[in-house]
Amino acid sequence: MLRIAVVGATGAVGRECLALLDGGIVPVEQVVPVGSARSLGRDLGNELGLSLPMAELVTLDDLDPAGLDVAVFSAGAEISAREAERLASAGVLVVDNSSAFRMRPDVPLVVPQVNPGALDDRPGPNLVANPNCSTIQLVRALKPLHELAGLEDVVVATYQAASGGGVRGLRELAEGSRAILDDPRAQGTPGGRFGQPLSFNLVPEIGLQDDTGLTHEERKLVREPRKILGLPDLRVSATAVRVPVFDCHSEAVHVRLREPVTTESVEAALAATPGLRAYGRSQSPSYPMPRTVFARPEDRALVHVGRIRVEPEDDRAAALWVVADNLWVGAALNALQIVELGLKNGWLG
Ligand SMILES: NC(=O)c1ccc[n+]([C@@H]2O[C@H](COP(=O)([O-])OP(=O)(O)OC[C@H]3O[C@@H](n4cnc5c(N)ncnc54)[C@H](OP(=O)(O)O)[C@@H]3O)[C@@H](O)[C@H]2O)c1
Repeated sequence: MLRIAVVGATGAVGRECLALLDGGIVPVEQVVPVGSARSLGRDLGNELGLSLPMAELVTLDDLDPAGLDVAVFSAGAEISAREAERLASAGVLVVDNSSAFRMRPDVPLVVPQVNPGALDDRPGPNLVANPNCSTIQLVRALKPLHELAGLEDVVVATYQAASGGGVRGLRELAEGSRAILDDPRAQGTPGGRFGQPLSFNLVPEIGLQDDTGLTHEERKLVREPRKILGLPDLRVSATAVRVPVFDCHSEAVHVRLREPVTTESVEAALAATPGLRAYGRSQSPSYPMPRTVFARPEDRALVHVGRIRVEPEDDRAAALWVVADNLWVGAALNALQIVELGLKNGWLG
């Protein structure tokens, strides 16, 4: 039985962590919700209808590491960079959802279905990094293709939901959409969570651009798969786009492989992969969509892959359409599956 602190418990990811813990994903003795001073006094158990054994919400300053087994951080990179190591050095296993530690060589970057071996032993610094939400669903779809025919080149375009921008992103999409339905000529104003008005719009810039023109989100999609898949030379080209969808990220993925494949062999490799649902060409529809994936908990827990095809003129080029819930597969569920792996490997709990 674990005592787990959920840091950022009131946020989009933190609330899903609490819901998954309430569903019994790992055995819990007590959950300690942690938020900013703004949230002191909130009763999240009651608000979210949870029956978990929960302590009162505390701030990070008042979070005592004594007796804590795990802290799942989902409060942004700045807070992780400032606070996570204090807990880790006091013996708490920190699973961090932010980008603060992902590329640190001594910190494992883990997707349990892809590189579980990275957690055979307890990580020395007591830190495990959860990859970026778009990276997780990408590498889960790429791994079976790599095992089938060897990955050479990946081109990905993302269609990322507003929930990737947290509680504020979801609110802005709802409010902006209502304003446009009331007045179709309303333009909204630049700024806000997405830099530009998102409602009825597409925003092809997630995070700041560097001097090569790559955005922060795109840089994560280029670098993180190399570390997770253990392929330091993998070429990845990414365009990340925010779309006016509330939940679930989608990705159009094109891969170039070392060996020839057929549509049937790619479909079979994906269909045989645990945790992944493949949509064959004979199915109708032959593709997943964000709203249908989000509708059922059993689907929110999977990576969905459709539009599976091999280019007619190049039997080493395959294309996929990948959809997953960024809050579960891309964040809370992956983090708690990391905890589950620590328990299974006997070095936690
Ligand atoms: N959303 C996604 O799809 C997704 C996916 C993967 C990773 N992530 C990462 O997960 C993290 C959280 O994202 P989110 O979307 O859940 O954001 P969010 O909805 O904006 O939630 C942010 C959370 O951080 C808490 N927080 C802010 N300042 C704090 C402080 N000083 N001390 C303690 N808690 C504080 C907030 O608490 P209060 O409400 O009390 O202010 C809130 O619970 C980010 O690092 C993000 O990059 C998000």
